Amino acid sequence: GKYRVISTKPMPGNRWINLLIEQDCRLEICTEKKTILSVEDILYLIGNKCDGVIGQLTEDWGETLFSALSRAGGKAFSNMAVGYNNVDVNAATKYGVAVGNTPGVLTETTAELAASLSVAAARRIVEADEFMRAGLYDGWLPHLFVGNLLKGQTVGVIGAGRIGSAYARMMVEGFKMNLIYYDLYQATRLEKFVTAYGQFLKANGEKPVMWKRASTMDEVLREADVISLHPVLDKTTYHLVNKERLAMMKKDAILVNCSRGPVIDEAALVEHLKANPMFRVGLDVFENEPYMKPGLAQMKNAIVVPHIASASKWTREGMATLAALNVLGKIKGYPIWSDPNKVDPFLDENSPPPA
Ligand code: GLV
Ligand code: GLV
Repeated sequence: GKYRVISTKPMPGNRWINLLIEQDCRLEICTEKKTILSVEDILYLIGNKCDGVIGQLTEDWGETLFSALSRAGGKAFSNMAVGYNNVDVNAATKYGVAVGNTPGVLTETTAELAASLSVAAARRIVEADEFMRAGLYDGWLPHLFVGNLLKGQTVGVIGAGRIGSAYARMMVEGFKMNLIYYDLYQATRLEKFVTAYGQFLKANGEKPVMWKRASTMDEVLREADVISLHPVLDKTTYHLVNKERLAMMKKDAILVNCSRGPVIDEAALVEHLKANPMFRVGLDVFENEPYMKPGLAQMKNAIVVPHIASASKWTREGMATLAALNVLGKIKGYPIWSDPNKVDPFLDENSPPPA
């Protein structure tokens, strides 16, 4: 191969590997045992000749790595993630390295996990499972693991982009929930969907679902019974859900986060969970991964899973393929396939699988 391409981790499937090697690339996949590579580890991998890198969200892609990649002749970097808060895009641009991410292929998979956590929290599935395995079940009781009925309640979505909209559709259609959302942009397609679904229910003699676009985030927090967070993590969304905002929520609300950990002030959340036993959370992401803030692991009203929202086989293979296409395309002189700074008209909440 003419081009040296590095993947900092082995990734699912073979398609991404074949794509690269069939197109003149010499692919090196780092098989280092430790989970999170340091900047020094990656500098060593880049060496003095490297055309492109596929990296992971656990890595700090800033000034140091992009200047090194540029010196090694590198033209492209792709994160294997839709989120790119670990990537300093300005630094990449300064050193002439194009950046790509992997949107679209993970939309439904991620929304499905947010929906799963919502239902698991509402029906206390994890607590009940622990109870059962501990041998504590000694017969049916009227009070045993009583949770919340979702039907007719209100789902709140903060950040109604691709993933937030897909989640909203699942909750509205699957559980006949009303919707309130907050986003800087109007989620036109989502609004149309909920309107049409409401009309369908009405035509069938059922109570129609309602929707509302909130003018502030606080309105969503005050009114919704289940709230799922789907913003991009940046300076404006850091600790978006803090002590004050937790206090605005209903005492028995459910909060789900499959976006990025720092969107919630996790220490404040632990205090809130302690003070409000009826309040429940489903968390896929944490403020300081892989750690949890002290006390969180002991809370019965919290469900915690290790950043697996995009972890379906189809999606992870798709993410790997997109990441490879991003790097390969740029090396071959095309614009980056999916540039996080540009809205790609072909990637929407119903985007097709990559070919
Ligand atoms: C995963 O967290 C992603 O951003 O794709
Ligand atoms: C519960 O199992 C019921 O039959 O109501």
